[in-house]
Amino acid sequence: MRRALLIGIGAGGLDQLTVEAVAAINDADVFLVAAKNRGVDDLETLRKAILRRHRAATDYRVIKVPDPERDRDPTDYGAAVRDWHEARAAAYESVIAAEVPEGGTCAFLVWGDPSLYDSTIRVVERIRTRGNLELEYEVLPGVSSVQLLAARHRLVLNRIGGPITITTGRGLARDVAAGADNIVVMLDKDLAAAALPGDWDIYWGANLGTPDEELVAGRLSKVLEDIHAARERAASARGWVMDTYLIRRA
Ligand SMILES: C[S@@+](CC[C@H](N)C(=O)[O-])C[C@H]1O[C@@H](n2cnc3c(N)ncnc32)[C@H](O)[C@@H]1O
Repeated sequence: MRRALLIGIGAGGLDQLTVEAVAAINDADVFLVAAKNRGVDDLETLRKAILRRHRAATDYRVIKVPDPERDRDPTDYGAAVRDWHEARAAAYESVIAAEVPEGGTCAFLVWGDPSLYDSTIRVVERIRTRGNLELEYEVLPGVSSVQLLAARHRLVLNRIGGPITITTGRGLARDVAAGADNIVVMLDKDLAAAALPGDWDIYWGANLGTPDEELVAGRLSKVLEDIHAARERAASARGWVMDTYLIRRA
């Protein structure tokens, strides 16, 4: 039996790991890193910096696993994501079989928290379902970009006794039509909130946790230009932008 540790590493800073996550980093022999085709080298560099900072011994290996190509504009989004998870499961399965000895422990350094818009748990479950490899696994939570956003803006995410919806740019219009009015939006490079009818307040953050993080808050219609400018600053500082925001109907 081999073991996998899915370790939440926070969303951009070197010190957003729990003590438990640091112990897990020190417990693994092999670290598996997705080699993306789209050139976000900085995210790989950050993972390596986290290992240098938190791993006491240097007797570990980092293995890049080429990330299968993904259809970014599919007609059936769910089917395309499922196909991609299957291809990732096959890729990781063969690397684990070849590189992690029986009884050994490998680790995935998962951006933010593994429970939020991340495929690692599903991919590991698929490896187990495929049945070619015996693998047990454990999930170590991390600080997600949503928690960082709330902390930076000093927000309680829910209004008193109220619900909070967490969605994507793609799902935002649907969720607003269904009545959501206190919403965290992720995976939204086009700021879908700008097209919503009515007045909204926004609490926005990009590249949170990095030295180049950007924050904007205010009435959405009044701060749109500030957000676009801040997004560009974040992109030119690091070569990538990830942004998350909370909107509330005013
Ligand atoms: C694939 S999801 C991963 C989320 C991650 N598991 C988490 O817990 O934050 C990527 C999205 O998370 C958000 N995100 C991740 N890191 C971020 C950061 N440092 N600052 C702002 N948003 C971030 C963005 O909405 C981005 O599009």
